[in-house]
Amino acid sequence: MRHLLALVATLAASLGTNLVARPANAQDTGSADAGRTKAGVCAACHGADGNSVNPEWPSLAGQHADYIVSQLTAYREGRRQNALMSPQAMVLSDEDMHDLAAWFSSQPLSPKEADPALVNRGRQLYTGGDADRGIAACIACHGPQGRGNPLSGYPSIAGQHAAYSAAQLRLYASGERQGANAMMRNIAGNMTEDDIKAVTSFIQGLR
Ligand code: HEC
Ligand code: HEC
Repeated sequence: MRHLLALVATLAASLGTNLVARPANAQDTGSADAGRTKAGVCAACHGADGNSVNPEWPSLAGQHADYIVSQLTAYREGRRQNALMSPQAMVLSDEDMHDLAAWFSSQPLSPKEADPALVNRGRQLYTGGDADRGIAACIACHGPQGRGNPLSGYPSIAGQHAAYSAAQLRLYASGERQGANAMMRNIAGNMTEDDIKAVTSFIQGLR
């Protein structure tokens, strides 16, 4: 297991450095101006500029456009389900999704703080993982700043509300959120509730 995790980390890290020169929105075809107009219906929950004020609801500001489109598509097709969000995605066309993604990805994310009591444990898990328990280091895919890697489909998680991120880790662990592949299900499935609280608090403070 230890070797496998090390290999995954090395591959992900080298992928990240090779692709870092490409612009974040290389594949985005949406119009941010059109997206701004269409985002009125999203504002109640995600904020007009993608900075949500409710910690249970994700901020979208600064998220990779392709990831936003992939998640909206997953809700529309029922691969990801949520009582509040699924009905919103059902009525969106592909063009709407690309426009909304262009808008929210271009907005600056408001910085947040980590809980000082959790930050050391959180940083340790984020940067080193726990190979003995099958927890791959988050940094390998989500990067040192938590900005992810758009071309690999690794989302930006920096500055995200800890309550939302923790809820997602629990959904991966239970299998309710399938994700595009097994990566996050395997990792989250090996985490304790204390691990989840610490690492998501650390992520919330990343900028
Ligand atoms: C009534 C509240 C509400 C409205 C309105 C709403 N959303 Fe959401 N959205 C949510 C919630 C809650 C989640 C997290 C659901 C989950 O756990 O899967 C979410 C999740 C998302 C995600 C996934 C974020 C991630 O990091 O994985 C995207 C993208 C998204 N919403 C985009 C939109 C867009 C675009 C609109 C407007 C067309 C919109 N939402 C309108 C509540 C809402
Ligand atoms: C091998 C690569 C990889 C590693 C290592 C990894 N992740 Fe992920 N992570 C992903 C991918 C890919 C997704 C998107 C999966 C999907 O399709 O739902 C994701 C999604 C997430 C999300 C949901 C983001 C959102 O906006 O909904 C959170 C939170 C998250 N990861 C946290 C972590 C934490 C915490 C760790 C370390 C304990 C970690 N990840 C390690 C690849 C990885």
